[in-house]
Amino acid sequence: MAAMTAAGRRALRRWALALAALAAAAAALDNGVARTPPMGWLHWERFLCGTDCAADPRRCVSEQLFMEMADAMASEGWKDAGYEYVCIDDCWMAPARDERGRLQPDPKRFPSGIRKLADHVHSKGLKLGVYSDVGNKTCAGFPGSYNHYELDAQTFASWGVDLLKFDGCNFGTLELLAEGYRNMSLALNKTGRSIVYSCEWPLYLRPVQQPNYTEIKQYCNHWRNFLDVSDSWSSIKSILDWTAIHQDSIVKIAGPGGWNDPDMLVIGNFGLSWNQAVTQMAMWAIMAAPLFMSNDLRDISPEAKWLLQNKEVIAINQDPLGKQGYRITKDNNFELWEKPLSGRAHAVAVLNRQEIGGPRNFTFSLTFLGNGLACNPTCSVRQVLPTSRDWGFHNWVSSLSVEVNPTGTVLLKVVAL
Ligand code: GLA
Repeated sequence: MAAMTAAGRRALRRWALALAALAAAAAALDNGVARTPPMGWLHWERFLCGTDCAADPRRCVSEQLFMEMADAMASEGWKDAGYEYVCIDDCWMAPARDERGRLQPDPKRFPSGIRKLADHVHSKGLKLGVYSDVGNKTCAGFPGSYNHYELDAQTFASWGVDLLKFDGCNFGTLELLAEGYRNMSLALNKTGRSIVYSCEWPLYLRPVQQPNYTEIKQYCNHWRNFLDVSDSWSSIKSILDWTAIHQDSIVKIAGPGGWNDPDMLVIGNFGLSWNQAVTQMAMWAIMAAPLFMSNDLRDISPEAKWLLQNKEVIAINQDPLGKQGYRITKDNNFELWEKPLSGRAHAVAVLNRQEIGGPRNFTFSLTFLGNGLACNPTCSVRQVLPTSRDWGFHNWVSSLSVEVNPTGTVLLKVVAL
């Protein structure tokens, strides 16, 4: 056989790459949504299960809460920054289904009904998310969707719902857990409405069985792997550690249409220092995480708002290449992470895990990044967090030294030239 010409080999390689891209795209749930990590607001971490509106009208889980949050999202720059979904978590339902077997909202707390709430949210140019559970009860004990997947999917679609967070409490057997997640996905697709499907399937499966992520990605747009986030640095650290330890199995699966979900952004609440908030924002961007804030947008500091609305960080999270980042090294209580971006660029995060003393310098060679290609032969380096700053031009043998505060992160963007 005649040897293939260089041009022939290049053409073959282009074909192989195109085919591989097609295969990867086909593996994701084909419902046209979540091509980049979804962004929005979710009530759980900040507002939990407040049902006594007489005692606490401003913080109970009610239509008023979601309407006020939608108003703030539209008027305070959140929507323009990309936050789109206003999401209800657990505890919105009445204790029983209606006479036709349909889920219904608690009539006292949602007197106008979910359809009206969806209309209000849509009128602001935003989208509405609701919550249900694969089992017969939600985690907080409200009616779950078991045995009602089709009906519930139709009900949600008829209300104009745009996202479903589907929890996994009270799932019964492992077969029922898998069947439930699959069936709800099919039922949502059958409605013909584009509904983001947010799963917790691997979180509930993992204690007993290794999740099959190829399958999960065929049914879900994003999925929780690890415990609920809380408003604390120890929670953020445990999520980052879990993700780094499991990166070999979870990073490769993420991409347009299907994302690992490390849970909500808790920036703007009470538990994180400024440096820790910077770390959560930087690392959620690196992880290509769905960005759902759980905070009070009616009452949030200008600093938290600046961080959460930071366009350069959000662009890293939303990069169209859709690659999740990973940890490259952990050394002397520093962690170095990178996320490949489109346009021959990389986001790079240096996290200082030391919790004693003051700022420390981390010096590293740019050959460490992007398998040696991030700065080859030269690159521009820009610091995005904690403050924006240009670090100028470098070449592939340059070293970079950054100063990082305890528990803080320096986030950089490196563009190969
Ligand atoms: C589980 C989920 C949380 C939240 C609560 C609600 O714990 O993981 O994100 O939805 O249930 O009860």
